[in-house]
Amino acid sequence: MIIDTALQPDGAISDRAFQYGDACFTTMAFRNGSIAHLPAHLNRMQTACERLKIPFTDWQRLEQHLADLAINEEQKVVKLIISRGSGGRGYGIQGADSPVAYLSQHPMPAHYAQLQQDGVHVGLSPIQLGHQPLLAGLKHNNRLEQVLIKADPASANFDDVLVTDIQGMLVEASAANLIWCQNGCWFSPDLSLCGVEGIMKGVVSNWLASHGKTLHQVRAMPSVLQNAEAVFITNALMGVIPVREFTCESNSYRWIPAQANALLQDFQQYLTEQTQSGAGD
Ligand SMILES: Cc1ncc(COP(=O)(O)O)c(C=O)c1O
Repeated sequence: MIIDTALQPDGAISDRAFQYGDACFTTMAFRNGSIAHLPAHLNRMQTACERLKIPFTDWQRLEQHLADLAINEEQKVVKLIISRGSGGRGYGIQGADSPVAYLSQHPMPAHYAQLQQDGVHVGLSPIQLGHQPLLAGLKHNNRLEQVLIKADPASANFDDVLVTDIQGMLVEASAANLIWCQNGCWFSPDLSLCGVEGIMKGVVSNWLASHGKTLHQVRAMPSVLQNAEAVFITNALMGVIPVREFTCESNSYRWIPAQANALLQDFQQYLTEQTQSGAGD
């Protein structure tokens, strides 16, 4: 079943997304008449459904619905949740075999273009992510760690915070992936234990590959960033945003956003081409 909340009311309280967070989601940017990186978003959802054993099968109809979305605004956020739906007994999933895709539309935050120019000042969250390889990389609906990160007073002092795991290794930002460049090599935290594999991180990785470069996935402490030439946070809505300052304990490391953006060379052009051709991650 597909429920477009622009057309009909939200789902039931018995839905397992509400009961247990038994669902996955993706947040997409609608720009210039279509959803950017739609194939990559659908691919993410298919992978998540497979790993969570959510038996959603209506992919073609869903893709068509998303491709046909008639949105008047130039930009919009489109959120897709696929839930296991209602049913089962307690946590048990037997009998819960009618998944539901929920679609909703939201305004696009207006300040991303400015952030791209000015960069962001990030702190380090004291809230650390637990390890769960079975869920690592997925954008599943159990996001209580991110809720605690956003609720922590440390988050209020900065534009965003970087987040480590319970071993103190870098994972991501509160709602974005982390990428840095050092000596011409590109790095991003390994996400095999926790964190969300982002669509925009995938786009950057493909762009680097088109230049014969690799985005290396590493386990690294926050202090590694002090030697970086440039640091970025990425997500599907805001794109690739330079970090202009990272405050960690009593130290602050600074970068010049224009210099960081210069390292992205033809990335914006690549992004536009990918969006126009409908190609994905
Ligand atoms: C915790 C977390 N990590 C990473 C990302 C980046 O993912 P994407 O590039 O798919 O937006 C998000 C996006 O919201 C997120 O919430």
